[in-house]
Amino acid sequence: MNILVVGSGGREHAIIRKLKEDPRVETVYCAPGNGGIARDAELVDIPAMDIAALVEFAKANDIGLAVVAPDDPLVAGAVDALEQAGTACFGPRKAAAQLEGSKIFAKEFMHRNGIPTGSAEVFEDPQAALAYVREAPLPVVVKADGLALGKGVRICETREAAEAAVRAMMQEKAFGKSGERIVVEEFLTGPEVSVLAFTDGSAVAPMVSSMDHKRALDGDQGLNTGGMGTIAPNPYYTEEIAEQCMREIFQPTVDGMREEGRPFKGCLYFGLMLTPDGPKVIEYNCRFGDPEAQVVLPLLETSLLDAMLAVSGGTLDPQTIRNRDKSACCVIVASGGYPESYGSGFPISLPEPGSDEEIFVAGAREQDGGLVTAGGRVLGVTAVADTLEEAVQKAYGLAEQVRFEGAYMRRDIGRRALEADQHGKDRI
Ligand code: AMP
Ligand code: GLY
Repeated sequence: MNILVVGSGGREHAIIRKLKEDPRVETVYCAPGNGGIARDAELVDIPAMDIAALVEFAKANDIGLAVVAPDDPLVAGAVDALEQAGTACFGPRKAAAQLEGSKIFAKEFMHRNGIPTGSAEVFEDPQAALAYVREAPLPVVVKADGLALGKGVRICETREAAEAAVRAMMQEKAFGKSGERIVVEEFLTGPEVSVLAFTDGSAVAPMVSSMDHKRALDGDQGLNTGGMGTIAPNPYYTEEIAEQCMREIFQPTVDGMREEGRPFKGCLYFGLMLTPDGPKVIEYNCRFGDPEAQVVLPLLETSLLDAMLAVSGGTLDPQTIRNRDKSACCVIVASGGYPESYGSGFPISLPEPGSDEEIFVAGAREQDGGLVTAGGRVLGVTAVADTLEEAVQKAYGLAEQVRFEGAYMRRDIGRRALEADQHGKDRI
């Protein structure tokens, strides 16, 4: 079977590597991909948002399955267009992708369906929003409604910061149309857990839980990024919490979407906070997380092709989705300056990964037969081992051998998880 993967980052590289473990996979195309992905797939020079060209390519190249990985084309209706033209897809249609495309839709959906989440108010009028944040308990969380490259959330400790966030989003249009409407949400506390789940619109099969590290610097300091590293499984996510999440969050979300005429098929990402009042949804994403996919997929025992075909065909049996009983750590090696401005075009020297080690390429292009940097997050260095401690050690051992000018990484990916392990999993 020929497969088309849409997207160009480390997540897409991880998806491709996992798909290729299945002998039924023939040619994997990636649109547009990157210089590192080119070593595992045939690159197609079509941007992820050129939906008409993707549809034409899929028709002309006997594509058995199209995997649309990033949020933008999903929210823009890439799956609707591909399916209409007869191409089977992994990924939600536009109506279901609204769970990520509109924070207001997601919040109102959760309230309608009794799914635990922080209380929130929606605003279309800047004056009303300003009046509200002048009275709301602090800290307060201000979120732009639409997609904003992961930057549309501000946690405001002071009234001035909250007012500034409202003004930036609604009046100065820092995120364009995405910030014309906003959600002002209560501040929640507790460990965060990401759970990625396969769903075919009825059945839901969670993969192993994970923990992202979103801030740029050690100790969760510095600016928010797309994610500087991940570990899996997340030690805070106990069996008991998993059962509670399935009962109160995962199945009700999938059922609610289907009952509202927006069946969600694909990978549904639950961003959870384990608050003192129980697990609550911080956000939904309509896709695999990046860099969550870089730890979750290497721990998936089941063939990814089987899982994706079952999702696409509406025949997912959760019993068939199995995870390896191991741990994984992914350390992102980024360009100096990221997430603000950074240089590019620096030659990359890569070590040879050992067994259960992988280097996923996110921001690089091919030049003179080698790779040069071409993005903020350049590489995701992943290791799998029997314990989290070993996985972290192995990932750092490999990441430290990567060379390019200005390379930097956080030094504490997994530290908090290891401490939680030592203090006992049930402390929250
Ligand atoms: P997002 O861009 O939606 O992934 O949000 C970025 C980060 O903001 C999340 O990972 C949380 O750490 C934090 N966050 C979002 N909403 C809340 C909230 N209601 N309370 C506390 N932290 C939050
Ligand atoms: N790592 C967070 C995300 O993919 O949204």
